[in-house]
Amino acid sequence: MAVGIFDSGLGGLTVHQAVAGALPEVAFVYYGDNAHAPYGVRDADDIYALTCRGVERLWDEGCDLVILACNTASAAALRRMQDAWVPADKRVLGVFVPLIEALTERHWGDNSPPREVAVKHVALFATPATVASRAFQRELAFRAIGVDVEAQPCGGVVDAIEAGDEILAEALVRSHVEALKRRMPHPQAAVLGCTHYPLLAAVFQEALGPGVRVYSQADLVAESLRDYLARRPEFRGPGQVAKFLTTGDPARVSSKATQFLRRGIAFQAA
Ligand code: DGL
Repeated sequence: MAVGIFDSGLGGLTVHQAVAGALPEVAFVYYGDNAHAPYGVRDADDIYALTCRGVERLWDEGCDLVILACNTASAAALRRMQDAWVPADKRVLGVFVPLIEALTERHWGDNSPPREVAVKHVALFATPATVASRAFQRELAFRAIGVDVEAQPCGGVVDAIEAGDEILAEALVRSHVEALKRRMPHPQAAVLGCTHYPLLAAVFQEALGPGVRVYSQADLVAESLRDYLARRPEFRGPGQVAKFLTTGDPARVSSKATQFLRRGIAFQAA
C-alpha cells in the first residue's frame, strides 16, 4: 500500500514525518520539486502545471492517493485539479481542510451549513501565493460564520529556512508577527499555513504570546489521512516501496533534508 506526498521542496518533510509515524504500514513516496521551489512567489498557472507534473509522477509509483503537503499548491492548484483533471480512480487531497475542521470543531465529512464557532479572530501566516489565493478564507466560509481572518504573507521565511539561516528566519517571523498584530492586536488562534513554519512554531508562539493557540498541520493531516484510508480503502495504492524523490540534485537535497529533520534521508532523482 503506497501513498504519495507532494511538496515544492523540503517543507513537506514535516508532514511526511507525522504521517509515516502514524501509519507505519503505509509506504510513503515523497516528491519534492526542489528544482522549482519556492512555489510561494510563482503565479497560479505555473503552480498548477508543476503540481500536476509531480502528482503524475507519484501515480506512476503506484500512489493512487496523493496528499499535497504544500499549502501553496493546495491553495493555488488543488480545486482546479479536482474539478477537471484528477481521474475517478485517483485522489488528490490538500492540507487546508483538516486544519479548518480542527479550527471549526468539525469532524470529517460533516457537511452541515456554516455555523458560529468559538474562535472569532484568526491570524493566518502563509506564503504570498497562499495569501493571494484566499483559499483559506473560502474553505473556512463553507464551515463557519463570523470569523475574522487576518492574513500575513511571510515573505523570505521559506528561503531563510531552505538556506539554513535560522537567525534570519527567526527575525523574519518576529517581524511578520508584529506586522500582523498591528492589524489584529488580539488574535485567539494562529494558523501556520506553510509546511516550513512548524519548524519555527516555538518562535511564532513566543512572538504571539501564550494566550494564542497555534495550529500547525502535520499531526492534523496524519489523523485525517488515517480516517480517510479506513473509509476509502480502495485508494490504498498498489505501490510497495517507500522513497524520497526530488527534481533537484539528490546529493544536495539529501544533505539539506538531513539537516532539516536531524536524521539521515536519502533522495533519488525523480
Ligand atoms: N511548501 C510550501 C507551502 O507549504 C512553502 C514553500 C514554497 O514556497 O514553495 O506553502
